[in-house]
Amino acid sequence: MAKPKVLVTRRWPAAVEAQLSEKFDAVLNTNDVPLGETEIQDALKTYDAVLPTVTDKVSARALDVTKPQTKILANYGVGFSHIDMGRVADHGMTVTNTPDVLSECTADIAMTLLLMVARRASEGERELRAGNWSGWRPTHLVGTKVSGKTIGIVGFGRIGQEMARRAHHGFGMNVVVYNRSRVPEGVLAQYGATQVDTLDELMPLCDFVSLHCPGGTANRHLINTRRLNLMKPDAFLINTARGEVIDELALTRALWFETIGGAALDVFDGEPNINPELLDCDNLVMLPHLGSATREAREAMGFRVLDNLSDFFEGRTPRDRVN
Ligand code: DGY
Repeated sequence: MAKPKVLVTRRWPAAVEAQLSEKFDAVLNTNDVPLGETEIQDALKTYDAVLPTVTDKVSARALDVTKPQTKILANYGVGFSHIDMGRVADHGMTVTNTPDVLSECTADIAMTLLLMVARRASEGERELRAGNWSGWRPTHLVGTKVSGKTIGIVGFGRIGQEMARRAHHGFGMNVVVYNRSRVPEGVLAQYGATQVDTLDELMPLCDFVSLHCPGGTANRHLINTRRLNLMKPDAFLINTARGEVIDELALTRALWFETIGGAALDVFDGEPNINPELLDCDNLVMLPHLGSATREAREAMGFRVLDNLSDFFEGRTPRDRVN
């Protein structure tokens, strides 16, 4: 029987690409340039499976194809707000993602950002590299203590819980949770956490607010001017979820007028384009979407896609089916 035709839209770890080529009739994107909407349309007409990632906008327009050949979009990544799930459903396509294997590494980056912004690490490094460090003094780059403070976690899925584990067991922080559904008491107890019913309730309680909810239209600008105004004036906002969750214009104003202490972002609305006003905020730490960027996580994500494809083409329901 002919092997299924599979298109990989970006470069993946070599070990995963090797297995993909062995098991499938795989076309790799050796120049690593993201696909445009027309190229995605062409791919949907040609391949049995397309393996997109966050840089591929599988929009309604890209999915505007009559009788696509593609039966499965096996996404490389846990978030899939770049895929128009409504149009996918019209075509009866299966969509899978890669949960679990990146939760710890993404929480590690969230904690990295939290520590960097609280302890003014980016400001310090910029000063030192610019040759402007004049030496130790009691008033130099004084930051905020992290241990024992209160952290609010927005979205208590696997990554949110890993963040809570680090914050509570590593830094003795009090954990407050906002989640769409009720979290079982036993799960909250593992992190000494308390759940509140609304995001508005959570915001004023916290020294740090860390976002771990899905992106997409439902959560677009969940953090807006009104909610930023609910934060303590010295509190920090951390985002490793999706850029669209924060209204960046509102955040820029909050940072400029110091109505909050600072922010730290790994994701941006419209990335890789960065709103130029963000670049001028000193009390802001920015990383280029590094949440899952470890050798271990990126390989495991790839092998999880392989598992999902094998399940699908061998007639089983893929373990990570999301629709
Ligand atoms: C994820 O897995 O969602 C990462 O953010 C990369 O897309």
